[in-house]
Amino acid sequence: MKILVTGGTGYIGSHTVVELQNKGYEVVVVDDLSNSTSEVLDNIARITGQKPVFGHFDLKDTEKTASFFRLHKDIGGIIHFAASKAVGESVEQPLKYYRNNLVSLINILQGMTDNNIRNIVFSSSCTVYGQPGKLPVREDAPIQKAISPYGNTKQISEEIITDTSRVTGIQGILLRYFNPIGAHDTAIIGELPIGVPNCLMPYITQTAIGKRPFLRVWGNDYNTPDGTAIRDYLHVVDLAKAHVVAVERMLGERMKEEVEVFNLGTGTGYSVLQVIRSFEQTTGVKLDYRIMDRRPGDVEQVWADTELANNELGWKAEKTLDEMTGSAWKWEKALAEKGL
Ligand code: UD1
Repeated sequence: MKILVTGGTGYIGSHTVVELQNKGYEVVVVDDLSNSTSEVLDNIARITGQKPVFGHFDLKDTEKTASFFRLHKDIGGIIHFAASKAVGESVEQPLKYYRNNLVSLINILQGMTDNNIRNIVFSSSCTVYGQPGKLPVREDAPIQKAISPYGNTKQISEEIITDTSRVTGIQGILLRYFNPIGAHDTAIIGELPIGVPNCLMPYITQTAIGKRPFLRVWGNDYNTPDGTAIRDYLHVVDLAKAHVVAVERMLGERMKEEVEVFNLGTGTGYSVLQVIRSFEQTTGVKLDYRIMDRRPGDVEQVWADTELANNELGWKAEKTLDEMTGSAWKWEKALAEKGL
């Protein structure tokens, strides 16, 4: 069975390609390499022994996308990761985000409609909940007005898929990720932030390796046990496996509605200081960090209710926080050995 992974050379995409290949799927990757390199395809092959078929083009290009789908009518399902994801940049360049994230999705859905491809798994985010009133947050919690254009593209994309599925045979699984961190055990693939990272985990590992002078902890006056903000961190390999399970649910005709939504997290929240402690304990490396003011737009605390994913999807995150921080460190050290 052939599965298309858009954004398959990216962080979550590459880990998902590996898990799909491990399960025997034939994977086709489409990526414009705007935030990754084609070397990732060789690295995937080093892990699985198979180099995915690769389409190097921009999914915003309507004509190229249409001809790609004409050539690959036999795709059984699509996992759509390809998108711009820097929250701050989306505030500065909203049109770039609306164009990149929405036009590509529209082109894909058109290609699916024209070629009778039914199944799409969409990479959404817990950002759609904003600061939830009730924790842990369930899938039926109200969607809150997005703070950034990036977050808005996730909300609009969910709506585009839902509206399209009503009038076509398309079925969709919308996966709302909490905070994916860590890297593959082999340290052959992982997160490769270009420039200064915004996210916590790469900032921690880059500080520890000496690329950044110190970590800034954004606020310790939140209404949480240690005052720092709480997130539901999950291992990227667990997250990748959830995509395989979602694809199998679609292919096995086990969906109960045309569009289904699942939270993907561990169900446990950890504070910024707890993540730092875990990193220090697992790696033995001391981190230089300083408490700063809150970062505008950050929510105070959020973690997932994972009951639906556990019971209905049949997926559960397995790896611990120490395994997440440990694997992220192994990856950073592997990058350093390559001079990256
Ligand atoms: C971020 C995005 C979110 C997106 C998600 C995808 C923002 C505001 N939100 O979530 O929309 O869906 O990534 O993974 O960018 N922190 C520090 N110091 C740092 C970096 C982070 O203290 O240098 C703290 C943050 O304040 C936060 C936690 O660490 O409390 C996690 O931050 P981050 O990794 O950026 O993820 P989110 O903000 O949760």
